[in-house]
Amino acid sequence: MSGLSFQIKDLSLSYAGRPGSGDRSEARIGRTGLRGAGGRPTGQHVLTGLDLDVAAGEILAVAGSSGCGKSTLLRALAGLLPVASGELLAGGEPIRGTSADRALMFQEDALLPWRSARANIALPLAIQRVPRAERDARAADWLARVGLAGLERRLPRDLSGGQRQRVQLARTLAGRPRAVLMDEPFGALDAQTRHEMQRLLTEVWNADTTIVFVTHDVDEALLLGDRVAVLGGGGLADLVEVAHPRTSVDPALRARVLASLGAQTLETT
Ligand SMILES: Nc1ncnc2c1ncn2[C@@H]1O[C@H](COP(=O)(O)OP(=O)(O)O)[C@@H](O)[C@H]1O
Ligand SMILES: [Mg+2]
Repeated sequence: MSGLSFQIKDLSLSYAGRPGSGDRSEARIGRTGLRGAGGRPTGQHVLTGLDLDVAAGEILAVAGSSGCGKSTLLRALAGLLPVASGELLAGGEPIRGTSADRALMFQEDALLPWRSARANIALPLAIQRVPRAERDARAADWLARVGLAGLERRLPRDLSGGQRQRVQLARTLAGRPRAVLMDEPFGALDAQTRHEMQRLLTEVWNADTTIVFVTHDVDEALLLGDRVAVLGGGGLADLVEVAHPRTSVDPALRARVLASLGAQTLETT
């Protein structure tokens, strides 16, 4: 299966009339007024009139300051948040709900604590009713690919934070999704582990999988993305093509993205 493309046309998203939808902790932060520069009261559109295409097999990094709508966009791509207006297509078809084609990976540890590393990785395969022998073989293969061979029987609590993120990455990819939607997946890791995970992602990723990678870290966005979409002010503030993706970060592009982010912060404060 090839990677999934996305077409985002004149898209508006809001949480109006959907109390308790999405991530509750973020909604709670919103109510206490601790939201970032792009924060706005609920009921209004979080994103308005967004136009953006994601090509099959690319890594699109989505950057933007806290509260600008990155997670909201990702939820809509996952089919967890309905479209307020405009169009949102995956592989040419309107997104109406979740699908195994579109896997999500979060920063938070979402492993099942009572299942071993291998059983966690095999979970999407069990859901897809892959026969047990093939399930075990594919899970073992993924354990090796993320550098955890020999740790298959460990429970999540007996793994480090970085190792747990490796298991999450393996689980996300083991089901062979056509797109992976990643929401600041390495955000809670220390700098060294984070760099290791970025390298690992570029090693295990291939163009059969489209990745939409949300991050507020400009260097991470420019390192991983074929393109970087900068969100701000309720829409697309900038769209940057990375000439040599997954090599090193071009200082000129870093300056450009930081300027787009800075302009947004000035506008909203
Ligand atoms: N479940 C929710 N209900 C209401 N408002 C929300 C909810 N989740 C996020 N928001 C609001 O939507 C805006 C964008 O949030 P979010 O997409 O989480 O931003 P980001 O991921 O870029 O930090 C913020 O103003 C936030 O307070
Ligand atoms: Mg977010």
